[in-house]
Amino acid sequence: MVHIAPSILAADFANLGDAVALVEGAADSLHVDVMDGHFVPNLTIGPPVVASLRKATKLPLDCHLMMTNPGEYFEAFAKAGATSCTVHVEIGDTAALISSMRDAGLGAGLAVNPDGNYDMVKPFVGDIDLLLVMSVFPGFGGQSFIPEALDTVRAARADIDARGLSTEIQIDGGIDASTIGAAAAAGADNFVAGTAVFRNDDPAQAIDRLRVAANADG
Ligand code: DX5
Ligand code: ZN
Repeated sequence: MVHIAPSILAADFANLGDAVALVEGAADSLHVDVMDGHFVPNLTIGPPVVASLRKATKLPLDCHLMMTNPGEYFEAFAKAGATSCTVHVEIGDTAALISSMRDAGLGAGLAVNPDGNYDMVKPFVGDIDLLLVMSVFPGFGGQSFIPEALDTVRAARADIDARGLSTEIQIDGGIDASTIGAAAAAGADNFVAGTAVFRNDDPAQAIDRLRVAANADG
């Protein structure tokens, strides 16, 4: 199963409702990039925008929290209608953050940057729904895919399968029709794409093309 998660970071923030409507029938979820200006050198959006999105779509809202203090906001994201949140392993306190996400009723994700490795997240993989392997350094859309991230994906796929876990492996950053095949071949099953979807004249068709390319080969 190929899960495509368009990142609204690449959409026009003044017309988010229109952007979401264009992918409603084609996407599997929406990826909401939350940046705090501390963990990453950029600022984006938070729970108020999630609440507005919740009214505009039935798709699951998966919030990628690029924040140093995400734990202070889980309740707010849950109340706004977020389906799941993903925190970064680099900020530490991971076990407690996973448990707080569960307490808030959220699906739990854990992200690792492209210069990290699977050993950093392995102790937590049995306790999360989604492992997010970053294939760019977080902070901005439109960057080039970093192939070294696939080492982490391969190690994750081998371990998750060996343990019979159902944890999804999401990859985020520089995913387009030319990179998604290699990511799928390495073992990813959930693909975030911003530029490749929303900077396209026909976002729904772009999603279909990604699905075909993911199933093609590596
Ligand atoms: C980067 C974000 C990504 C980004 C992906 O910090 O986490 O989700 O929006 O954008 P593209 O697909 O343009 O690389
Ligand atoms: Zn993201």
